[in-house]
Amino acid sequence: MASTAPRGGIFGRVKPLDAILATAEKKGLHRSLGAVQLTLFGVGCIIGTGIFVLTSVGAQKAGPGLMLSFIIAGAVCIVAALCYAEIASMAPVAGSAYTYSYAVQGEFLAWTVGWALLLEYAVGASAVSVGWSNYFTDTVMARSWGIDVPAFLKAGPEALGGQVGGLINLPAAVIALLVTWLLMIGTTESARVNAVLVAIKIIALTVFVFLTVPAIDSANLDPYTPGGMFGGFGSGVGVVGAAATMFFAYVGFDAVSTAAEETKNPQRNVPIGLIGSLLLCTVFYILVSWGAVGSIGGQPVMGADGAPLGTGTPELARMCATAQYQDALVCSREPLAHVLHTLGYGSIGNMIGYAAFLALPSVILILLFGQTRIFFVMARDGLLPERLAEVHPKWKTPHICTLITGLVVAIGAAFFPVGQLADIANAGTLYAFMMVAIAVWQLRKKDPNRPRPFKVPGIWFVAPATILGCLFLFFNLPKEAMLVLPIWGAIGIVFYYLYSYKASHLGRGIVEVPETEVHAIDPSSPGYNEDRTN
Ligand code: ALA
Repeated sequence: MASTAPRGGIFGRVKPLDAILATAEKKGLHRSLGAVQLTLFGVGCIIGTGIFVLTSVGAQKAGPGLMLSFIIAGAVCIVAALCYAEIASMAPVAGSAYTYSYAVQGEFLAWTVGWALLLEYAVGASAVSVGWSNYFTDTVMARSWGIDVPAFLKAGPEALGGQVGGLINLPAAVIALLVTWLLMIGTTESARVNAVLVAIKIIALTVFVFLTVPAIDSANLDPYTPGGMFGGFGSGVGVVGAAATMFFAYVGFDAVSTAAEETKNPQRNVPIGLIGSLLLCTVFYILVSWGAVGSIGGQPVMGADGAPLGTGTPELARMCATAQYQDALVCSREPLAHVLHTLGYGSIGNMIGYAAFLALPSVILILLFGQTRIFFVMARDGLLPERLAEVHPKWKTPHICTLITGLVVAIGAAFFPVGQLADIANAGTLYAFMMVAIAVWQLRKKDPNRPRPFKVPGIWFVAPATILGCLFLFFNLPKEAMLVLPIWGAIGIVFYYLYSYKASHLGRGIVEVPETEVHAIDPSSPGYNEDRTN
């Protein structure tokens, strides 16, 4: 739809929320999703490389206290999810945090949010691709088939977890490109496929918990926090340093918010779906990390200064290559399979590897898809070159922005360690979550009478808690990851002033909001509409 809007300065360029809502109404999508389906959708987006791979990275930072890190990161996500639930039930549209910010904080800040979301989705997709590659090369190929992929083909040059001599992570780049191709030709995942993959992940984690928790030896939990609670500003270690990294394990729940307009009884089901999926994952994460560090031990490799060595560093890689550490959890590239192998459950360990092998590509698909939608909406708003938003005549997909995104994701996956990629993705995500919390709070003041299908109880607490929680995690990231955000932001601002400011449709007096929306997981496919009882 198009209407005229006042021009104004960058902070005055606010996209009318009414125009956004009108579009959502015009779509008139059938409200068919219940709480259970929405929760399943959430779990499908959430469980991935975070728990399957970063568990060893987190243990290197926190030690056995890793469970505490999951609790801290989970708590921040839950308050952020409440904010998402309120705004998504009001404005369930494409573009997620970017669109919300455009409607409340104006074009300039929305631009910075969209720019930061690029980090969340694209760099996040690279991280999950690397995680997939670890299970593919180490569990599926090496342990299960006895085929050793050479080190120079399975890790980037920055050695990770003992893989000294890495050059390119070929499988990670290939899976990223394969998923890109699927998205370009218009593949979305059916709800049924999502449900199957969610079941595979849940079964894998449940089996893991049942085999490892009884094997916990309290001696393995001592010392509990060898890296301390706070490892020091910029160090990225300690329990809170690990929390900042493990935050990645929860990333993706925001994708649920875009399904709000297809949800029955959204005031009840959207928050249940968001919070329910997060709580479920939090419980699994706590149990899995407890089982992992408690059964085979999760003490970090310490440096000469008595602090845990940084993850993804050559020093750690060198130590991990020594006989003393090569079997340590913190040195493993596929920690969950590794734990079960160490406990003598080799074939079940391999099956966990297959579970990751099957399920992680769907997380890549969701993240890549999220990325292309953000790109697409920003291009349609005129903030990025409109050619990016061109829809392919046959595939009906924004194929150009999908291809560009896929190439960038593949390059990131090919050359960078998973922990660093996750930290960078987290930096962008934390900024976006913080802006959503500010937008929800601002909107309560600016537009108190607008109907809110879901209203966050105690917004005076939830919004500031989200903002402070995001800042807290951000300032506990390693300094390199922290620095990426302002550097990336500065590049974005230069681009904004050189291009977007003039090209902006809103700035030129046109308001356009998306007319259609599709999901990476297709809720209209079989599986979602069957259960109407929730
Ligand atoms: N939360 C998702 C994962 O851990 C992104 O892979």
